[in-house]
Amino acid sequence: MTISKTVAALTAVAALTALAAFAATPSKKMPANSSGVVSISLPGDLGFAFKPGPGSNLANSLCLSCHSEAYVATQPPFNKAAWTAEIVKMRNVYGAKISDDQVAPLADYLTSNYGTP
Ligand code: HEC
Repeated sequence: MTISKTVAALTAVAALTALAAFAATPSKKMPANSSGVVSISLPGDLGFAFKPGPGSNLANSLCLSCHSEAYVATQPPFNKAAWTAEIVKMRNVYGAKISDDQVAPLADYLTSNYGTP
């Protein structure tokens, strides 16, 4: 091995060692639990699930795969026709997997909990 190759190899080892040490050291600012697990909150995590009530299971299972409940909670209080149009838009425009017989119960749930009659 030439000297320059040896120097390059040693430099690479030093860099990897430094990287490993950096990766293994949790940031002091992040609160960790007793097992060293660090949790973070992303915008929209708070209140991620839909308000509990009849129909909320349907909304939790059909509406959270692409975005949080905040997309619904931050809308004006739509009436049932407007919520129905939103559900149909999620399906037709964005490809949400919602069957015909799920549209009415979802619209009822959204109108009762996030809308006006
Ligand atoms: C297949 C992915 C997908 C699913 C499932 C989905 N959405 Fe969406 N939704 C979107 C996208 C994409 C947007 C637009 C995001 C943007 O413009 O930033 C959106 C936006 C919204 C908005 C904001 C207003 C608007 O029209 O842009 C509401 C309200 C909403 N969704 C409600 C729902 C409800 C209720 C469900 C369940 C019935 C649902 N979504 C399921 C993809 C989805």
